Amino acid sequence: MPRPREILEDEIRRATPRSLAQWKRGQASMPGGVIKGAYWMTPHPLYVERAEECYLWDLDGRRYVDFTNHHTAMVLGHSPPSVIQALNDAIGHGLGFGAPSTLEADIAEEIVKRFPSIQKIRFTGSGTESSLHAARMARAFTGRPKVAKFEGAYHGSHDVLEVSVAPPPENAGPADSPTPVASWPGMARTAEEDLVILPYGQRESVELILREHEREVAAVFFDGKPGIYDLDPDFAAFLRRITRELGMVLIMDEVVSFRAGYGGYQEMVGVQPDLTLFAKIMGGGLPGGVIGGSSQLMDLLDNSAGPTLNQSGTFSGNHLTLAAGLATLRALTPEVYAHLDELRERLVSGLRGAFRKAGLPAQVRGVGSIVSFDLAERPVMDYRSSLDTDRETVDLIRMELLLRGYLIAAGLGLSLCSPMKTDHVDGLVDAIAEALAAG
Ligand SMILES: Cc1ncc(COP(=O)(O)O)c(C=O)c1O
Repeated sequence: MPRPREILEDEIRRATPRSLAQWKRGQASMPGGVIKGAYWMTPHPLYVERAEECYLWDLDGRRYVDFTNHHTAMVLGHSPPSVIQALNDAIGHGLGFGAPSTLEADIAEEIVKRFPSIQKIRFTGSGTESSLHAARMARAFTGRPKVAKFEGAYHGSHDVLEVSVAPPPENAGPADSPTPVASWPGMARTAEEDLVILPYGQRESVELILREHEREVAAVFFDGKPGIYDLDPDFAAFLRRITRELGMVLIMDEVVSFRAGYGGYQEMVGVQPDLTLFAKIMGGGLPGGVIGGSSQLMDLLDNSAGPTLNQSGTFSGNHLTLAAGLATLRALTPEVYAHLDELRERLVSGLRGAFRKAGLPAQVRGVGSIVSFDLAERPVMDYRSSLDTDRETVDLIRMELLLRGYLIAAGLGLSLCSPMKTDHVDGLVDAIAEALAAG
């Protein structure tokens, strides 16, 4: 087992004094000392000086192999030359125009080419904005007031959908018909009232709930969480059938699951959603999000048709994000996916071996370029089963790895990037084996 928490925290403080000092400095001017919530980590955040390929360097000059990849966004690793080149070219034309550029048709065509379900796209500022606008579009299209999502799924930080993401089990209701639980104090009352919560993987219950709310539910938001949950790939086809029958819009969140392969999770499971949400990778390392879908739905946003459902945003579709996103998509060739597949298979089998050797019951999953592990006897298929895992020990493993030069984060899995080689994957497996024997 890893060493106890106090020892690890103390050792990290001693190994990263400059990050510790920087965090203390920030406490006076930022809540919790950080510029955004996700940067907080125990015992303190690591401040990054430089990032290149699959490495980050912190203020103390320590190098880490980065299995977090900017919340999974950097599938080509940090500072990929073709993306940096495209950005330098774009910056040469100006920082921002408040007017369109030729890059928009370039990236729109690239996305349409890649996804048979998508005929038209719009850019937003983030995944959060994409899901917010998609909910509005679905309600406008169907004339129904509510949307449905799955317990344990995150689609962004707003009052429409940040509900039942990680609810306290005592408030979450029965596993087969979960109760909506707003994630944070201060959210609008409608957050819970206008949302229907579905249980992952349970077809009969999902069908029952959707039929019960047939006249109210405009859309079902669905993230297959490949590599995170052990979900039957046929579940997406079931959702496609039932939403079509009930006249609901199927919205697939591919903000992370685009990592499943060249055509995302939808290609993997052979399902064409009505709308798809992207962000992270689509911005090529810069802020951005995408909504894509059938012309019928996307044309709700057609401003030339007169007063319409408007979607905009000062920085939505700015030319720097478009340049970085386009260069990233063009670099994401079938060969890159084949390389990532090879790394994933090696990591999954390496981790299974390491946990077996340590005599720990573990669940290891991998799809596309995401691998995750939990310390649990039974497969993790949904939010409820994720509660039965030993998260404290996983956090101790995270700290042992940090001290050995490997960065991992809870929640989004271990994400691979194209500059990684088998040595990086083998190194992580060895470091985990060491971590398991450290205590
Ligand atoms: C599956 C999924 N959907 C949506 C979002 C929201 O995207 P953003 O952080 O760009 O607002 C995230 C962010 O982590 C996500 O993981």
